[in-house]
Amino acid sequence: MRTVFWEDNSVKMIDQRRLPNALEILTCQTHAQVAHAITDMAIRGAPAIGVAAAFGLALAARESSARTPDDLLADLRAASTLLLSSRPTAVNLAWAVNKVLRFTFSESETLSTQALRERILSEAQRLADEDVDINQRMARHGADLIADGDTVIHHCNTGALAAVDWGTALGVIRMAHEQGKRVHVLVDETRPRLQGARLTAWELEQYGISYEIISDNMAGHFLKTRQVQKVFFGADRVAANGDVANKIGTYMLSLAAHDNDVPAYAVVPTSTIDLSLATGDLIPIEERDADEVLGLEFHGERVAPVNAKARNPAFDVTPNRLISAIVTDNGIVRPPYHLNLSIILH
Ligand code: MRU
Repeated sequence: MRTVFWEDNSVKMIDQRRLPNALEILTCQTHAQVAHAITDMAIRGAPAIGVAAAFGLALAARESSARTPDDLLADLRAASTLLLSSRPTAVNLAWAVNKVLRFTFSESETLSTQALRERILSEAQRLADEDVDINQRMARHGADLIADGDTVIHHCNTGALAAVDWGTALGVIRMAHEQGKRVHVLVDETRPRLQGARLTAWELEQYGISYEIISDNMAGHFLKTRQVQKVFFGADRVAANGDVANKIGTYMLSLAAHDNDVPAYAVVPTSTIDLSLATGDLIPIEERDADEVLGLEFHGERVAPVNAKARNPAFDVTPNRLISAIVTDNGIVRPPYHLNLSIILH
């Protein structure tokens, strides 16, 4: 099943807030509902939110009562502003929205408003189908990095749930498994929202891949004691110099990997590479509600004191010097990233 899809004039998505306890489908009938689903993380993961936003624009086109292509474009631009504000860090969101807007603009001279509505939906559908192809290509490139018998640490959730299907770093692990390699995954639980413990563990069970959940602060121990051969994660945005913004905790994990000469690989579709930003310092970092940190319960009781305050940056930036290679759908990129990323994109 795909994570996000179009059916019965609606955008449907696996509600990731309910996993692993229930597999439920959330139906969105307006672009505002899609924007809310992204903000509230019913759907999450950089490629998945990009495709959801593209489908959101297809909904916006149907919601619009515009009678001319210009009026339709104005309504789409307003819908884009809402969709783009739903989460700031993953560049895939802006990439997908801008693709649909540019496509609509280029067709608006020749098509009727009704034909445009149909073409916007087929463009969103094309992006969804393309995402699956891209992820499979990435998975094949990345699987070459995994040797039979490897134990790897994986951070956050980067699997089918984070994309339309297959995913990024977890797609690589799944491909290596399907190629017959024995892989064991140490799954970072990924505080505060526990995407690893909830979503990655659930996916690995579906694929029959061997795994154990570790709390994030255990990674250094397993790396230092030589129990791990590689580290894999995805990214929400890669700057032109190869700095990688990804789920909070990626930086500490990469530092520990580097200190122990264990390679750390970022796996990203080319749509995640943002050459307009020279370094990772320019990437906007989303700060989410403190309740995601403070709401944790242990044995049925809240952990933090009632009046506690908390900080909650959802992402961090790992400097390029800690990234051994960046796996993309166009191949594996190695340093110097400021040269090789632009080569792979052209
Ligand atoms: O806050 P999330 O769960 O959307 O963060 C997701 C990640 O950080 C993933 O690692 C990233 O999107 C890349 S993998 C598709």
